[in-house]
Amino acid sequence: NRRVSVRDIALAKERGERWPMLTAYDALTARVFDEAGIPVLLVGDSAAMVVYGYDSTIPVTIDDLLPLTAAVARSTKRAMVVADLPFGSYQGSPEQALAAAARFMKEGNAQAVKLEGGHRVAHQVETLVAAGIPVMGHVGLTPQSVNTLGGYRVQGRGEAGAALLADAKELERAGAFSVVLECVPADLAADITEQLTIPTIGIGAGAGTDAQVLVWQDMAGLSPRVAKFVKTYTNLTESLSQAAKSYAEDVVGGVFPDKEHSYS
Ligand code: KIV
Ligand code: NA
Repeated sequence: NRRVSVRDIALAKERGERWPMLTAYDALTARVFDEAGIPVLLVGDSAAMVVYGYDSTIPVTIDDLLPLTAAVARSTKRAMVVADLPFGSYQGSPEQALAAAARFMKEGNAQAVKLEGGHRVAHQVETLVAAGIPVMGHVGLTPQSVNTLGGYRVQGRGEAGAALLADAKELERAGAFSVVLECVPADLAADITEQLTIPTIGIGAGAGTDAQVLVWQDMAGLSPRVAKFVKTYTNLTESLSQAAKSYAEDVVGGVFPDKEHSYS
């Protein structure tokens, strides 16, 4: 019972099969998603927000993300586990990127890494791939660059579309096995998907990509605010809040624990 590999991912594109990706940050939810058949799980640097409570992905470190990656890898059997390289851990040089990625492969037991940027990280991608590390690219809205982008906004509109396509092509040339397209017009994402031989993974990029990804807390209704592109599939905030309130009521009222939940 082997894990999903980069070969499986490549074959899916050849066959025209779409696939889902979700983020995961802990053992129990990773196991649920793995058993639900989600083929690729991303330990995203979005952990900065949904796990650590920061308001951007900038502050999160390798040491913050490594234990989460290891937990997801330990508790899954089939999914490919992709580790997000955090801000500041790879932009400096290919050597720096290799050192960071190697930690996620060795200590985190990830099967691949993801990094943000197009041509500006091409040398990093080449070096990682040469070292035997599958790399997932990420272009469009790249949250680690929020301060140069001037906010979280749609990327690649109008003239900027050509540069985004060029960035995606450069990632493919450098050896990336897939590329995330975040917050780009649906037409552009479909065009990029057609022009690349590696699969595209969309988030806020319309229906024309090869795969889709969402932050699990967003799609499960746990995040307080979500972007327009998020579809909410359940309301965990409501059900968890209800459970917490009922439990509190039972404790205060002396209803829990009863005989059934006590040892004689
Ligand atoms: O960190 C993250 O969750 C991501 C995905 C949304 C692509 O990068
Ligand atoms: Na990320």
